[in-house]
Amino acid sequence: MCGIVGYVGSRNGTSLLVDGLKRLEYRGYDSAGVSLMDGGGIETRKAKGKIAMLEAAIGSMPIQGNVGIAHTRWATHGPPNECNAHPHHDCSGTVSVVHNGIIENYGPLRAMLKKTGHTFVSDTDTEVLAHLIEAAFDDNLEEAVVDALALVEGTYGIAVICSRDPDKIVAARKGSPLLIGLGEGENYIASDVAAILQHTRHVVYLDDGEMAVVTRTGYRVMDLNAQTIKKRVNRIDWDLDKIEKGGYEHFMLKEIFEQPQTIQNTMRGRSVDEDGFSKLGGLNLSREELQHFDHIIITACGTSWHSALIGKMMIEEHARIRCEVEYASEFRYRNPIVSEKTLCIVISQSGETADTLAAMREAKRRGAKTLGLVNQVGSTIAREDDGGIYLHAGPEIGVASTKAFTSQVVALALLTLKLGRLRTMSVVQGRVVTQALEKLPEQIQNILDRAGEIEKIAAAFTDATNFLYLGRGFNFPVALEGALKLKEISYIHAEGYPAAEMKHGPIALIDADMPVVFIAPHDSVFDKVVSNVQEVKARGGRVIAITSRDEPSLDGKIDYEFRIPETIDMLNPVLSAIPLQLLAYYIAAKRGLNVDQPRNLAKSVTVE
Ligand code: F6R
Repeated sequence: MCGIVGYVGSRNGTSLLVDGLKRLEYRGYDSAGVSLMDGGGIETRKAKGKIAMLEAAIGSMPIQGNVGIAHTRWATHGPPNECNAHPHHDCSGTVSVVHNGIIENYGPLRAMLKKTGHTFVSDTDTEVLAHLIEAAFDDNLEEAVVDALALVEGTYGIAVICSRDPDKIVAARKGSPLLIGLGEGENYIASDVAAILQHTRHVVYLDDGEMAVVTRTGYRVMDLNAQTIKKRVNRIDWDLDKIEKGGYEHFMLKEIFEQPQTIQNTMRGRSVDEDGFSKLGGLNLSREELQHFDHIIITACGTSWHSALIGKMMIEEHARIRCEVEYASEFRYRNPIVSEKTLCIVISQSGETADTLAAMREAKRRGAKTLGLVNQVGSTIAREDDGGIYLHAGPEIGVASTKAFTSQVVALALLTLKLGRLRTMSVVQGRVVTQALEKLPEQIQNILDRAGEIEKIAAAFTDATNFLYLGRGFNFPVALEGALKLKEISYIHAEGYPAAEMKHGPIALIDADMPVVFIAPHDSVFDKVVSNVQEVKARGGRVIAITSRDEPSLDGKIDYEFRIPETIDMLNPVLSAIPLQLLAYYIAAKRGLNVDQPRNLAKSVTVE
């Protein structure tokens, strides 16, 4: 979603800010802009479309300066065009603002400002901020920002510069991530550490309700009553090459191929084979507390919601705790039953998804303990949960989530072991799980070594207009995930269903033009799935089957087959998801689409 970068130092900030924006491209955007303090006044360049267009605009009318802010916009209020792109200005052009989030009361504020003579040029909610700051400005930018924000309802991560108080950036956060990067004689602002990692590894994360005044030589964080807040400086320990393509054509393909390693990283030091147990240091819950829960709610969005469905099945089957899965966007506005015996697990790759964060806060407010399964270290969910399990999958840049999904499933398996072994799971049952977990990296490598087989299958379906994905048990959420991957990046309509549910409606769609992907490894429901394959074949559907061994019962019923190695039922999703990620990838790549930044999508959805 929208991205923010800011720089205050002694270098020319133009290319530094534009390079920072390029590092945020993966988040999804439709226009971009930059403002610099240029010889006393503020100069701004903006462009619709890719950052290359912004570079062209700067090329034809260069700007420079050593205090500046920049933004990639993902349209919410008003279409993506140059005028609506950020930064936005006040009437006199002395204030420049970039903003992530939504100002909910921008309508009345705009009307009020218009009455007092302010002129608006864009359709955005953000523009009111520039005018509010202009109206409140006396001689100090941070005071004007405090006064302006006091009138605002909604969410924001903002960075502001002002030519009447020129040597600083003022930033503030409520509901939209923001951090300060610390350099030598220069400092930065960013909504995502990727934007500034080439300049510094030392960052200070802002929390909701905090603002920062950042100058060349230092920074000060305070609350909105101007009370100084002491903040921790965090060191980022991953490298820039993690956010580069490393020879792959797309980040998504690189991330799919990283999975033997990322799974290993999720498990490292956590799976204890001799005791069939897992060590999860970050849970912050005592043995007694873990035994006390009799109800679990898992809440998430999108792909993370699919892994939540798998987690529910694992936990109910092996730890025997009642478990519900809720879309975070629904949970936050319901009146859910939560008690002090409820554990709320929130799953989020980014740790910033607005609905998931709000659901977690709601669960906390109602007395539940919260556990975050988060990939992005230092993200808001990771900082606000009561305890958690970091996925350690490394930065995920491709908008379609791949390696985070498999790491989520593995983290849920580790949690299941922990909860199960404190209840009814025997050491022998525990060891079956730990041993199966240990085999996963090699088994994933085996699948990836045969990616060419999937590429050939993909070649037969590049012109398909619909797809159906069917699976049962642990593989039903994989069917949902396979369908989501395909529709996100190839724009082919796809649906996932429990295989037997097909008879209750979707079967009407099946004809010779309908490809049907069956996720059918040899598990406890395999024989049931065979009957569903038969039903599709009898109606002329084209069957692609993900199987795990030679199955005579499928002879003559499938058109394309890909074999995955065998594992225990609960870990099948880790293996069966990978050929589906590859299938979606190859189909989209063969259609010549922008795999890493599909249209309309954002990597981290920080608005409701
Ligand atoms: C799908 C995808 C999205 C995310 C969803 C939640 O490929 O990436 O569906 O899974 O937006 O995001 P996180 O996990 O960051 O909360």
